[in-house]
Amino acid sequence: MTLTEAKKKIEELRSRIRYHDRKYYVENQPEISDYEYDQLVKRLEQLEAQFPELITPDSPTQRVAGEPLKEFVSVTHRVPMLSLANCYTPEEMIEFDTRVRKNLPGEKIEYVVELKIDGVAVSLEYENGKFKRGATRGDGYTGDDITANLKTIKSLPLVLDTTDPRLMNFEVRGEVFLTKEQFKRINQEKAVANEELFANPRNAAAGSLKLLDPQLTAKRKLDIFIHSLGYIAEPIAATHFDTLKKLQSIGLKISPEITICNTIEKVIATWEYWSKHRDTLPYDIDGLVVKVNNLNQQARLGATMKSPRWAIAFKFSATQATTKLLDIVLQVGRTGAITPVAVLEPVSLAGSTISRATLHNQEEIARKDIRIGDQVIIEKAGEVIPEVVKPIHSVRTGKEKKFVMPDKCPVCGARLWKEPDEVVYRCENISCPAQIKRRLTHFASRAAMDIEGLGEALVEQLVDAGLVRDIADIYTLDLFKLLQLERMGQKSASKLLTAIEQSKHRPISDLIYGLGIRHVGRRAADILAEYFGSIDALSAATVEELRTIPDIGQVVAESIYQTFRTPEMRRLLERLRAAGVQFVAEPKKDVKPSALTGKTFLITGTLQKHTREEAHDIIRRYGGKVATAVGKNVDYLIVGENPGSKLEKAQQLGIKTITEQEFLAMVEQ
Ligand code: IVH
Repeated sequence: MTLTEAKKKIEELRSRIRYHDRKYYVENQPEISDYEYDQLVKRLEQLEAQFPELITPDSPTQRVAGEPLKEFVSVTHRVPMLSLANCYTPEEMIEFDTRVRKNLPGEKIEYVVELKIDGVAVSLEYENGKFKRGATRGDGYTGDDITANLKTIKSLPLVLDTTDPRLMNFEVRGEVFLTKEQFKRINQEKAVANEELFANPRNAAAGSLKLLDPQLTAKRKLDIFIHSLGYIAEPIAATHFDTLKKLQSIGLKISPEITICNTIEKVIATWEYWSKHRDTLPYDIDGLVVKVNNLNQQARLGATMKSPRWAIAFKFSATQATTKLLDIVLQVGRTGAITPVAVLEPVSLAGSTISRATLHNQEEIARKDIRIGDQVIIEKAGEVIPEVVKPIHSVRTGKEKKFVMPDKCPVCGARLWKEPDEVVYRCENISCPAQIKRRLTHFASRAAMDIEGLGEALVEQLVDAGLVRDIADIYTLDLFKLLQLERMGQKSASKLLTAIEQSKHRPISDLIYGLGIRHVGRRAADILAEYFGSIDALSAATVEELRTIPDIGQVVAESIYQTFRTPEMRRLLERLRAAGVQFVAEPKKDVKPSALTGKTFLITGTLQKHTREEAHDIIRRYGGKVATAVGKNVDYLIVGENPGSKLEKAQQLGIKTITEQEFLAMVEQ
């Protein structure tokens, strides 16, 4: 056979194999027997062995090729891979629809409803119709180059079935997953080899994509569904649905379960259907993804920093499972609060394997009569930590043991105590390593100072290595210190230091929340930041002043007051200030300077033009503060119809009273 003849034959064989790959792996409609298919591949392999110069990377024989990698190379995504906002209830879904319609007044809205595959997000780049490169999502901006592993996925075409140049160069996104069947097989093989099992198909898929040897990845038999376009020079359709159809027509694998809904009721009905029938699918899903179909509308809705406004993940809600309670251990929180945690026989629940659940506190354990060794019902709602609902008393054997609350902290050995009117026990040692770790993780978390890279594992390392003992120590870290840590490279270290530096300029509400003051949650932190405008003003506030802020109750006010008076907090604040952490709120752009600015108002009686909430809103928007009780901090009492006792009190204190009209005139100024 001449080289030219071989080339022709090889091309023909490859094209036939590609055709049958698509029929079998993508469309699930095989046309030939496995034997016939194997013969085609064998023939191609023989010819390629004879004419190695004709081997190309896109040949079906080259899916598993190359030496194991040493590490993955980073890839910067051309278009960031955003995540999706979540919702769990029909009410929240209706809110999403209302938001969409508010932004597109009077327009017809159509939603595409897709399954939310519980797998691993990847991006695939095609160039001149050939698969060029694939990457993990990573942090959304850069991921790992996992091209060699992705090539082993038989349902991923190495060559697209098109000659249209507009359909040959693009980047698509999809979800790599393992079917339940393959997951089971892999775990069985692992069990035989005495290896640790994967917790669920998603973990198994993620682990398989991160193997450095594609030979091993190939054995896992991963699969993929493509669900969106990442980058393309010009649009290929006017709607998301038609885009998917186009991608499908050139050989990409699209989920067969896609519904178009023209009302939100139909979206909800689809969600209800799949909540009940998800078990019938060969792979795990953890909800649906609802997307506005029209691409022009998508573009006009745009995106926030984190997720598009035109799509939302509609997740499945609470589910229960039964398992055995093996033990009860204590977990120490950032304020020293001790939470008993149930150690469970691993059980699969809503797509993940649960081996721990919260028992809240020892009073709950006693109230529900939960004993070690019990069969228990556990429940998981949305993203929250699973909890033990109740034991099944009827299946007790008599060997179950009652739980006794220890009197010492399991981490540092300090005495545990509790306030007489509280149910929660606390570790009294504020230097308890467990508390320190929790405080640091909380401070660095996304909801607080958002120091990317400073997660639980790294905090653990930093504290154990003695590099960090409190929050302020984070700002003393440098390259030299970080590089002492195991598995810490120059690149991650610099990245972390940049993130730490950036955190110094976060809004003070994030700092207030990050300080981890007892009873001060995210919302309270926002309110306090708005009211005081600086850490110094907040730390100087008296309980009475704090009490005048709507939504800040006695317990919260006292906790704030006490915390800022401890020497530890004072020292911490001084060190944070010295490190350059922002202590003063940036001037608010939407606050309009006016006669109200800096003044405190209180309302009594019924107003005519506005509800009380509206009036409060106006006061805040124009830079004023709202009080909830008469006190000497109040500058003006706005008197409506049928005023209450506040009027008399205010007059006694000599506080200026004004009518609603006078108030509105002040706003006008
Ligand atoms: S669309 C802008 N569609 O869910 C985001 N995502 O947080 C576009 N996922 O890991 C994503 N099934 O990979 C979309 N049918 C589907 C999906 C899906 C699963 C994953 C996605 C990402 C996460 C979104």
